[in-house]
Amino acid sequence: MERTLIIIKPSAVKRDLIGEIIHRFEIKGLQLCGLKMMQLDDKILNEHYAHLKEKPFFQRIKTSMMATPVIVCCWKGVDVVNLVRRMVGPTNGRDAALGTIRGDYSVSVQENIIHASDTVENAEIEIRRFFRTEELYDFEQLNPSVLYAEYEK
Ligand code: PPS
Repeated sequence: MERTLIIIKPSAVKRDLIGEIIHRFEIKGLQLCGLKMMQLDDKILNEHYAHLKEKPFFQRIKTSMMATPVIVCCWKGVDVVNLVRRMVGPTNGRDAALGTIRGDYSVSVQENIIHASDTVENAEIEIRRFFRTEELYDFEQLNPSVLYAEYEK
């Protein structure tokens, strides 16, 4: 089954939205494989946002991501990368539809509450970037037969 990485950003941590956001993924039926609080630094952010290094907002987004510790989570499920991206909504919180996480809790592009991996390949790279192997768990939270039809698993 696929895995994805989310980061609950300082813009959510400062507003006490951690539990609310985790709850969304839990009640959807995704399986939590790893979760921790960490303070990001320039080194890990230079790597994580390497594709944005020519953008005018590169330093701003890094400063914003270091404002408080963040929560990183790894979730597992069928098609979970795409599913989580749709639950998160588009980058700009003002454009995101109500019912998405950004649509419900953000009015900003930069302070947009949450990061979610954009492809299956990047998800695995990001999971390895933020978690050590021994920090990830694979256990049966709920019998998958309750969540999925046999042919979907
Ligand atoms: S996303 O979240 O992947 O759909 O976003 P994307 O549009 O590809 O943008 C990549 C990350 O850059 C952030 N971003 C910005 N930050 C500050 N100012 C401006 N103008 C801006 N535009 C995009 C955006 O929030 C994405 O951050 P992450 O952490 O990847 O969600």
